[in-house]
Order: sequence, then structure tokens, then C-alpha cells
Amino acid sequence: MLDQIFKDLKNEVKFGYLKKKHPYRYPSLGSIEDQKPVQRTVVLRDSTDQFELIMYTDERSDKIHQFETNPNASLLFYNHKKLLQVKIEGKMQLIRSGKDFENYWSRVQGKSQKDFITQQAPGTPIDNPDHVEYKEDEHHFCLLKLVPESMEYLELKRPNHIRARFDKVNNWEGQFLNP
Ligand SMILES: Cc1cc2nc3c(=O)[nH]c(=O)nc-3n(C[C@H](O)[C@H](O)[C@H](O)COP(=O)(O)O)c2cc1C
Repeated sequence: MLDQIFKDLKNEVKFGYLKKKHPYRYPSLGSIEDQKPVQRTVVLRDSTDQFELIMYTDERSDKIHQFETNPNASLLFYNHKKLLQVKIEGKMQLIRSGKDFENYWSRVQGKSQKDFITQQAPGTPIDNPDHVEYKEDEHHFCLLKLVPESMEYLELKRPNHIRARFDKVNNWEGQFLNP
């Protein structure tokens, strides 16, 4: 049964980027700044054969410095229809060049590129949201690749809630937990 839960967990996460409007498309990504947690919503874009999770960001955003200082990261997914929470923790890799980088950047088309070509870095104070300026010859695209070390599944249902944890150090063998 734990094997099946582990498969379900990974499939549910994959639906986040494969199925339109799936609630797992927009997980919360946690990082650490000065020993304090910081969270933000991101779009899950893809996963690799090793189930590393791919996201996009601007290399000037605060999270980059946070992950450079402390690569520990947490992604939290919640499906309100299934009352199903998935938590994935691991180390964040920042990818700013190479084959994968070029491949994913080539998938960012048209208006979506605007997110990565603003003149000012994300978080810079501005007078008016209409007055964002864009660069024409440069972008600040960066790939985020979360390499999982532990995953947790929690489904609230009657008569029994199901909570299970899977750790890389245990070869991803599962363990039920008291919910
Ligand atoms: C629906 C939604 C999707 C978002 N997707 C992303 C994303 O894929 N990548 C990203 O860097 N920021 C995304 N953001 C913006 C982040 O939540 C955050 O505001 C921004 O990345 C700056 O975060 P930071 O200053 O902590 O680095 C998204 C925000 C919302 C509301």
C-alpha cells in the first residue's frame, strides 16, 4: 500500500504541470533568509526522470540569494477537492547555463518572456504598476531544480486519515505516520 501511495504522490505532482487548472500547478515554495522562513507561490513547470522538480524564476529575485546561502527548500502542494497535501523537501539547484537551461528558455514564448526582462530587479520599489520597463537585449531567466530528499503525503478522509513519509536516505521506502 505504501508503494501505491508513493506512486500516487508523484503522479499527483505531475498532474500539476500536465493537467490544465490542476491545483498542484501553483505550489508554495519555502526558503530561508536569516534563519526565518520565506514563502511564495510559484508555477511547477516540469519534473525530470529522477523526479527533480523544475520551476522558472528571475535570477535577481530574493529567493536566488536565499538558496545560494542555504539550498534547503520546501514545496507545498494542496488539492482542496481531495483534501490532499503533499510536501517535498530537498536541496535547490540554480541553473543559469547549459543544455537544459537553453531548452527551457526556448519554451518561454512571447509575452511570458516579459517576466524575465524587466529593467528593474523583482522587488524594486516603483511608483506605478503601469510603469514597468523592459530590456530588449538581455534576460534574467533562471531554472530552479529541486532535488527531493523527503516527501510526505497527507490525505484527510473518513474513517482514517492517511499520512506517510518517504525519505531518500531510506531508498524512498515509506513509513505511515500518525496524522
Ligand atoms: C499565481 C502565481 C504564480 C507565480 N509563479 C511564479 C514562478 O513560477 N516563478 C517565480 O519566480 N515567481 C512566481 N510568482 C511570484 C512569486 O510568488 C514571488 O512574488 C516572486 O517570485 C518574488 O519572490 P522572492 O522575492 O521571494 O524571490 C508567482 C506568483 C503568483 C501569484
